[in-house]
Amino acid sequence: MSKAVAINGSPRRQKGNTAMLLTPLIQGMEDAGCAVELFYARDLKVKSCNCKNMYCWYQKPGNCCIKDDMDLLYPRLREAEILILATPVYIPLPGEMQNIINRLCPLLEPLLETRENRTRARFHADVKIRKILLVSTGGWWEKGNSGTVVRIAEELAEDASVEFAGAVIRPHAFLMKKEGKLTREGEAVVEAARKAGEELVQNGAISQETFEAISRPLISEEELRRIDNDLIR
Ligand SMILES: Cc1cc2nc3c(=O)[nH]c(=O)nc-3n(C[C@H](O)[C@H](O)[C@H](O)COP(=O)(O)O)c2cc1C
Repeated sequence: MSKAVAINGSPRRQKGNTAMLLTPLIQGMEDAGCAVELFYARDLKVKSCNCKNMYCWYQKPGNCCIKDDMDLLYPRLREAEILILATPVYIPLPGEMQNIINRLCPLLEPLLETRENRTRARFHADVKIRKILLVSTGGWWEKGNSGTVVRIAEELAEDASVEFAGAVIRPHAFLMKKEGKLTREGEAVVEAARKAGEELVQNGAISQETFEAISRPLISEEELRRIDNDLIR
């Protein structure tokens, strides 16, 4: 059975919009035969990286000098073939999520190379991650709001020399629910997220059609602008 680790960076954890997408996506992956372990960044005590000399590269490669809940994540990350980073856009990331991303450094080998005019590394041989998938939700209308977050996940995949499996993006995610209940369109998005998880495990990739079904507009841009701006009037 393949293994995956999903990290949900939303401070709202299972009650947040990000979980509305991530939960069915994980369900789809599990239905397709992948064991997924889910962590909420907010529940983990992960300090920010504060070591001056890149201890995990130049002193004791593969080992982090900080002792905290990353010790729980590192062995699981070494065993997982898929890493899912799920996060709301917080211009760009919630702090807890950023701390975890920074602390992935010990999984990278310190041997650098140049690829396409960029300095890159790779994961240590004992790290099985082969794909990184991003799940990103935002409050504003357009998908472009997730652009910086997508770039961060892409950079991480490129630095680690693994595949970027794409970005599951849900703009104006809060509109999937009305009065606390999924709308019909919200349900369709949830079903598309489930399908995305299934496709990722079964076919090794999420189809363009499924990516688009997840991020399709739920409202016109003008209408959302009016709703947002009415809040401050
Ligand atoms: C500090 C902060 C910054 C945000 N910045 C953006 C932003 O730049 N673009 C955007 O589309 N949404 C932004 N949002 C909205 C959230 O990304 C959006 O509501 C998201 O779906 C929340 O996910 P969650 O409920 O899982 O935490 C921001 C929210 C907060 C609290």
